[in-house]
Amino acid sequence: MSGEFKLGKLIIEGKTKKVYELLTDPSLCLLVSKDRITAGDGAKAHNLEGKAEISTTTTVKVFKLLSEVGLKTAFVKHGAEKSFVAKKCDMVPIEWVTRRMATGSFLKRHPGVPEGYTFNPPLQETFFKDDANHDPQWSDQQIISAGFRVGGVNITRNEVDIMKRTALAVFEILERAWATRNCALIDMKIEFGVDTNGEILVADIIDSDSWRLWPAGDKRCMKDKQVYRDLREVKPEDLEKVKINFRWVASELDHCLARPSPLIVVLMGSTSDEEHCLKIAKHAAALGLRTDIRVCSAHKSTVETLNILAEYDNCKEKVVLIAVAGRSNGLGPVLSGNTTLPVINCPPCKPDSAARDVWSSLDVPSGLGCTTALHPETAAIAAAQIHALDNHIVWSRLRTKQLANYVSLKQADVKMRESHA
Ligand SMILES: Nc1ncnc2c1ncn2[C@@H]1O[C@H](COP(=O)(O)OP(=O)(O)OP(=O)(O)O)[C@@H](O)[C@H]1O
Ligand SMILES: [Mg+2]
Repeated sequence: MSGEFKLGKLIIEGKTKKVYELLTDPSLCLLVSKDRITAGDGAKAHNLEGKAEISTTTTVKVFKLLSEVGLKTAFVKHGAEKSFVAKKCDMVPIEWVTRRMATGSFLKRHPGVPEGYTFNPPLQETFFKDDANHDPQWSDQQIISAGFRVGGVNITRNEVDIMKRTALAVFEILERAWATRNCALIDMKIEFGVDTNGEILVADIIDSDSWRLWPAGDKRCMKDKQVYRDLREVKPEDLEKVKINFRWVASELDHCLARPSPLIVVLMGSTSDEEHCLKIAKHAAALGLRTDIRVCSAHKSTVETLNILAEYDNCKEKVVLIAVAGRSNGLGPVLSGNTTLPVINCPPCKPDSAARDVWSSLDVPSGLGCTTALHPETAAIAAAQIHALDNHIVWSRLRTKQLANYVSLKQADVKMRESHA
């Protein structure tokens, strides 16, 4: 069971997994899944051979996807087939539920709302983890007033806000991923923990027990644990069906993981603009894009410029062009006038001439649709937003960046208030 890992003491054993310390690193633990499926706070429970391995595979793939798009989780690496290594956490005793559609317990608590009612934005609910009292729903105010101190961190308004925003981002990222498989993510729950560095992270597991998943948006095709919850009498063939569904989910996730990075082409009018172009490429890489950098001048090498454009016009993959030309930007508008590819001008304006030069990018002839971004980061984000329309990985990187902006502003505000208290 332990594989290559030197197990320390059992930290906790729950209904579906055991958590062990790792002697090699006190900041880590090993989560070992059990071949056990339960529902109704454990009132219904069965052994299901193979479930531990499927559940671990699912969790590992989901956490890898989240890490790949820049969202931090407690996941470290896959262990043996039934286990994975995670940051050892003190767990926040709250379940964070995000719903896109009304179903299940929500309908009981909100009579009159039809099943399938769509929440825009997704609805967020929180439940206190208390099996004996069937995990009662709690408001933000109840969580804050409980005064939890977890892993040395006080759970105040700020922490609650950050966990809620993070739960929303996790839901939306996984919703987009499943949409590529024509599956509707109806709702899901996650948990947070505080690692030994005092960082709040998405923790626990995310598997077929964590969400409702309806292929083609059709409830009758559900592939999640609800199939088990709904069984009155549990026959071996029913359990086999549940397992087949779980296995299907784990294998579908392969298609949601990395795909080739989409391409942007940065064309510079002169090599003196190289530094500006490299900044664009750096921001683009952080958003999961790859960059070709080319040199051509619309004024001085017009035919070459159009030949280079023809290469990308004829390219099988989707391309966004970014034109970098100082002084008079002929490049962006000439490219734009000769292609249907999106063109973003990112002129490397100098402070003393910016107000004059920028007009060559802005005031373009009629019939052209190139847009202008003044900063390398803005140009990279604008290009990523175009790719994100049909690339969920890029979309998710943008979504994670948005979350990181929110979190860093919140933390800066706390620091500012503390320093002036
Ligand atoms: N990274 C982690 N570090 C430490 N403990 C963790 C970590 N991830 C999950 N746990 C904890 O492991 C315990 C066992 O998990 P399991 O899901 O089997 O419990 P459970 O019986 O379902 O109870 P619960 O209702 O608390 O989830 C849980 O208390 C969970 O919070
Ligand atoms: Mg649990």
